[in-house]
Amino acid sequence: MADLTKLFYPNAIAVVGASRQPGKIGYTIVKNLKEFGFQGRIYPVNPNANEILGLKCYPSVSSIPEPVDVVVVSVPAQKVLDVIDDAGKAGAKFAVVIASGFKEVGNVELEEELVRRAHKYGMRVLGPNIFGYVYTPSKINATFGPRDVIPGNVAFISQSGALGIALMGMTILEGIGISAIISIGNKSDLDDADFLEFFAEDPNTSVVLIYMEGAKDGKRFIEAAAKTTLKKPVIAIKAGRTEVGARAAASHTGSLAGNVAIYEAAFKQAGVLMARSVEEAFDWVKALSWNPLPEGENLVVITNGGGAGVQTTDTLADNGIYLKEPPKYLVEEVKKFVPPFASLANPIDITGMAPVDWYYKAVYAALKDPEVHSIIVLYCHTAITHPVDVAKAIIDAVKDAGVRKPMTVSLIGGKEAYEGIQLLTKERIPAYPTPERAASAMAAIYKYLKARKYVEERLKS
Ligand code: COA
Repeated sequence: MADLTKLFYPNAIAVVGASRQPGKIGYTIVKNLKEFGFQGRIYPVNPNANEILGLKCYPSVSSIPEPVDVVVVSVPAQKVLDVIDDAGKAGAKFAVVIASGFKEVGNVELEEELVRRAHKYGMRVLGPNIFGYVYTPSKINATFGPRDVIPGNVAFISQSGALGIALMGMTILEGIGISAIISIGNKSDLDDADFLEFFAEDPNTSVVLIYMEGAKDGKRFIEAAAKTTLKKPVIAIKAGRTEVGARAAASHTGSLAGNVAIYEAAFKQAGVLMARSVEEAFDWVKALSWNPLPEGENLVVITNGGGAGVQTTDTLADNGIYLKEPPKYLVEEVKKFVPPFASLANPIDITGMAPVDWYYKAVYAALKDPEVHSIIVLYCHTAITHPVDVAKAIIDAVKDAGVRKPMTVSLIGGKEAYEGIQLLTKERIPAYPTPERAASAMAAIYKYLKARKYVEERLKS
């Protein structure tokens, strides 16, 4: 197992190829590191500069007055080996190699030599061909991506660079809190398995999301992912699900994307939840990172529209989840305020005339009923209520009940529904614009429980 402690908790970071020119990668990395608030020492290295962003510049890593733990290498590929020699001699422990121009364009020998040299000095390599890494507990943003990622409990490992940066920005838009972002690129040395082993034990991480094109060592990946699954969910977006997609992946990071059936089997062995799209992965991440796990299978759907309830029931059934009769206490409570024509099976239809306080009362009663284990709340925008008020009612019910149970919400409608979704997001209640997405996200929670059980049993036998 690789010891990644000093990568995530370094005392000092050097940026080789730190540029004086705003807009260049080496400049942006220093700026992000500094402005995201890294508390250790930051050393820009550039033989042509005296100072960058108010920080004293050094001509080489070996001229820095203390040993550095991490060296971010942002000089062109042909200069990287010299930097590795210099940093290795100076006692650096990790080289984070940003440069492209290695295996992904056929320079296999250069990439192998990079790893050989680094290992000679006991140094491990992240990359090459990456956008850097983030670890919010140590306030590290050593990337040229967006600066202000939201601190939180999701670790994201991305094999794709540009898409990874874009998704990094999307986490901010979607309100997803991040513990770590690792651009893993060509995986010349450290790979997904090494990071999974770290995140499995990391108290700051409770969900791991992987964008994967191909695994370097399938067996090791399965073992590391399985061990992680025992402690926290692992969600993967597998790129190259189709033959044509796999060919595209091969020319991107030089990975063999392999046959999708093989990946599906491997992910099943490891308990990894396979998302088909970025949207689905993010939906699941929110549901799994913001909710506790359910204590049982009694899932209740509360809706003001029959159609939304049916769509939800269908999506749940697609995922092997079948709604049971709602518990008696909840039904009795809801009966007190709904009209006699309301359907009190599951989904519980509080009808299209439902005012805001019916949502409050129904959600409150569901949270208070010990026989309810999880809740999906659906709201179709009607002119008699404002979605923001419905969102507030749901938030108040959760606060007043003083219990958190797995919950997903869908506010279906226009611009106002979107405002309601944003309000729920702020309170870390996962909310979506369609009932299918709320249902799929809830199903992911139950899928995780099943996957974990499967892995527990597999590892026992
Ligand atoms: N040590 C330290 N600094 C050095 C140096 C050395 N041996 N040699 C040159 N430098 C300085 C340069 O003077 C320059 O500083 P300046 O802008 O103040 O003059 C800086 O380091 C950067 O070097 P430069 O040659 O200008 O490189 P660059 O910034 O144009 O490109 C990379 C470097 C790594 C960004 C580029 O080669 C690359 O690979 N880009 C692709 C990255 C990528 O897409 N990664 C995949 C993830 S999406």
